[in-house]
Amino acid sequence: MSHSVYVTSIIPEPGIQIVKDFCPDAEVYSEDQIHPRDLLLEKIKGRDGVLTLLTDAVDKEFMDTVGPQLKVISNYAVGYNNIDVEEATRRKIVVGNTPGVLTDATSDMAWALLFSTARRCAESDKFTRAGKFHGWRPTLFLGGDITGRTLGIIGAGRIGASMAMKSVGFRMKVLYFDLNENKEMEETLGAKKVDLDTLLKESDFVSVHTILDDTTRHLIGKRELGMMKKSAYIVNTSRGPVIDEAALVEALKNKTIAGAGLDVYEDEPELKPGLIECENAVLTPHIASATIWTRGRMAEMAANNLVAGLKGERPPNLVNPEALD
Ligand code: DGY
Repeated sequence: MSHSVYVTSIIPEPGIQIVKDFCPDAEVYSEDQIHPRDLLLEKIKGRDGVLTLLTDAVDKEFMDTVGPQLKVISNYAVGYNNIDVEEATRRKIVVGNTPGVLTDATSDMAWALLFSTARRCAESDKFTRAGKFHGWRPTLFLGGDITGRTLGIIGAGRIGASMAMKSVGFRMKVLYFDLNENKEMEETLGAKKVDLDTLLKESDFVSVHTILDDTTRHLIGKRELGMMKKSAYIVNTSRGPVIDEAALVEALKNKTIAGAGLDVYEDEPELKPGLIECENAVLTPHIASATIWTRGRMAEMAANNLVAGLKGERPPNLVNPEALD
């Protein structure tokens, strides 16, 4: 039986191969841009499966447009805040994601942002390229110390815990805020579970790793930023809306915190006014999982989830098992 499949973006070859092997007529949107919504709604009509990106809003309108035969939505990401999972479950549509394979790449990037921000790598690179380096100076680009300082992890799941584990070499004290205890972090690192306010007050580096949902949107706002030390830095590799970006711009401009390393933004790809001008922020374009190996594995996982869903089997990485009830 042949299936009608739409892939909303080029993804690395291993994934495309798996999709095409099972479904040679699968259509892939090949423009190197975010899929325009109008065209997307046209293309998805009548499909049995759609492989989506985190930039595609998979809402009621999307599902209505595809039609009642839709069996599977496979997201090429671990995060799935772009998908109305409740609605999908109600319609018995299985939803897949790509957990695990991007844990190290993402926590590595969080460290890269932490270092670049504290040690002012982006700012000083620009300075050097501009021909402004005229010799060693005692106070040129002074930054923050990392070794021996306190790291505060918000969200101690896979990626947050991986970030924490990598702090060993820097002999850091680790605090974490999460609804659940992370025994491994406590036993291996002596990490301490604290409330959010304590974490913000005591940390020299705050690294955000929560999922985005109604409970975490603007978890870090003006009040929370106001609790951080003037010498502290915040890093975000999770989802932009977890931080109130306008409040963050104010904190960076007024130097009530020392700096921020951001890979994600509240209104991606737009940045809130004023953020670009903040020299004490390092800004990367949502690339935390962007290593060749990781993106290849994500592509395979997303493709395998899609194919399993089309076959009526349980996708290996299923977000909504209730859809199978
Ligand atoms: C994800 O997977 O959710 C990341 O944001 C992109 O890899």
